[in-house]
Amino acid sequence: MLLRVDVMDAALRAFYGADPVDLRRERRVIALTPTGRLLDDALVDELSVESDVTLLCGRYEGFDERIVEHFASEAVSIGEYVLAGGELAAMVICDAVLRKLPGALGASASATEESFSTALHGRPEYPHYTRPAEYRGWKVPDVLLSGHHEQIRAWREERSRERVRGTGSPE
Ligand SMILES: C[S@@+](CC[C@H](N)C(=O)[O-])C[C@H]1O[C@@H](n2cnc3c(N)ncnc32)[C@H](O)[C@@H]1O
Repeated sequence: MLLRVDVMDAALRAFYGADPVDLRRERRVIALTPTGRLLDDALVDELSVESDVTLLCGRYEGFDERIVEHFASEAVSIGEYVLAGGELAAMVICDAVLRKLPGALGASASATEESFSTALHGRPEYPHYTRPAEYRGWKVPDVLLSGHHEQIRAWREERSRERVRGTGSPE
């Protein structure tokens, strides 16, 4: 079973009041498929500056390929595994994009220096600690309590690099 091209045409036409072939010239229309471009921080950044995005969710065996060819501007995957439907993939994209929008987070800087961001050169984020300074004998690293900003920055950079080495991701 596949999502039919004529049914998708009628659904998009009814919602947007326009031919879906034209819709993708005005906005990004993303078909969610396991074989599409892998979602990463760069793509989330791209989407977060768009004023409008349409996400098409498949079910069953997926889309009749003419939907992807003629109605979508691109195909996106949230990972190399198969979900039963595109709805959760759409929610993942919404969550990742919405938290990058102005005002979404209490401190906008929180979304800048995060795992895989440009600020961290695409590397995983360093570990975080908060109070208490010691719990069940597990201590917050001394350097983080030192107040020495340059040493803290160097410590964080090294922990971030270690995580790259730990996952085998290219540096
Ligand atoms: C069961 S899947 C179809 C799998 C397809 N027959 C294949 O083997 O590539 C049904 C729908 O779930 C969504 N989906 C499943 N896995 C996904 C993923 N990793 N990323 C994005 N969407 C996914 C897509 O919308 C897809 O059309």
